[in-house]
Amino acid sequence: MPVALVTGASRGLGRATARALAGRGWSLVVDARRDADLADATADLPRVVAIPGDVTDHGHRADLVAAVERLGELDVLINNASALGPSPLPPLRGCRLADLRRVYETNVLAPLALIQLLAAPLDAAGGTIINVSSDAAVEAYPGWGGYGSSKAALDQLTAVLAAEERELRCYAFEPGDMRTDMHQAAFPGEDISDRPEPESVVPALLRLIDERPPSGRYRAADLAVASPAEVNS
Ligand SMILES: NC(=O)c1ccc[n+]([C@@H]2O[C@H](COP(=O)([O-])OP(=O)(O)OC[C@H]3O[C@@H](n4cnc5c(N)ncnc54)[C@H](OP(=O)(O)O)[C@@H]3O)[C@@H](O)[C@H]2O)c1
Repeated sequence: MPVALVTGASRGLGRATARALAGRGWSLVVDARRDADLADATADLPRVVAIPGDVTDHGHRADLVAAVERLGELDVLINNASALGPSPLPPLRGCRLADLRRVYETNVLAPLALIQLLAAPLDAAGGTIINVSSDAAVEAYPGWGGYGSSKAALDQLTAVLAAEERELRCYAFEPGDMRTDMHQAAFPGEDISDRPEPESVVPALLRLIDERPPSGRYRAADLAVASPAEVNS
């Protein structure tokens, strides 16, 4: 059975993705910081190794890698766990550098660290890397400078990886707005009930895994209406 590592799988898009892959019979390694939430999210899933911890922590990353290595190859790495930064989102002139460091550690350096550590099992499978990005990487929304620039860095890192790692597939995946805790934190006090559930985005992400289009940046909204080949052309 194929193997995936999904970070941030206790809630939101990560949880929905892990459940979809488990439903297809995949073996999974998943994480999130809060042990109880992660256990709740994965209790009914077979073939799941759930390891609580923080992706910015080197020791935790080593535990994830060891779990993957026990399973053999790694077909798909999904760098989904992410930090938004303070809520409400501050303008850049008031953005604390300590907060920004934490956002970059989570959204840029931890994904790259996992890619580096998991290069051998990814190579063995001719695997796929999916780095979850955001429209804030390409749009200049006031208040989104910290998070958005971290996702822009993740996008560029993904693009360079794609040029370097010709045997792998490397995707930046933009899910669009989703009704999740992170989205609520970005819009504190606002009614976000009109945003789609994260489960609605999973079919687009699965298309990347199933159809393995050329490496690149893909938006869920585009994948929902066109084939990956058409999106990329
Ligand atoms: N929601 C949106 O509208 C939206 C839009 C564009 C892009 N995105 C992107 O989509 C992805 C998923 O977002 P979401 O809205 O589903 O988020 P979410 O509902 O807040 O879930 C985030 C998940 O990641 C875990 N997590 C957070 N920081 C972590 C860390 N340092 N180490 C390990 N696990 C961590 C959380 O659990 P713990 O808190 O227990 O660690 C949780 O399981 C993110 O990359 C986000 O940037 C979201």
